[in-house]
Amino acid sequence: MKVAVFRKAHFNAAHRLYRKDWSFEKNDEIFGLCNNPNWHGHNYEIEVKVIGEVDKETGYLIDLKILNEIINKEVLNRFDHKNLNLDTEEFKDLNPTGENIVVVIYNLIRAKLDAKYELVVRLWETERNYFQFPA
Ligand code: NI
Repeated sequence: MKVAVFRKAHFNAAHRLYRKDWSFEKNDEIFGLCNNPNWHGHNYEIEVKVIGEVDKETGYLIDLKILNEIINKEVLNRFDHKNLNLDTEEFKDLNPTGENIVVVIYNLIRAKLDAKYELVVRLWETERNYFQFPA
């Protein structure tokens, strides 16, 4: 019996979308307002979906306390109230788009999650724009 368990979390972070090897004009053309050199912030929401078999003894798929600890340690402690471009290793040389952020978060959680589980991560950058990995 496969079941999905979801955990939501939230963090605030600043970023700028640009490529160092492009001119300001080209960055402006491609990234628009997100290329603002003085940064801008988002209230990011994430949804972590874990799929697996329910344990017959406990009735749990995963102990949500453990999942919550993984999310806090791997995602929130790293990114909450940070400038993604300046303050994090992950985005030093990687453009912090929603697409890239959701893949980075997936990989951070995947590394700590038992291999028996399937994982899907969603990231909301705004109420209307959100991203999912794997697609
Ligand atoms: Ni932005």
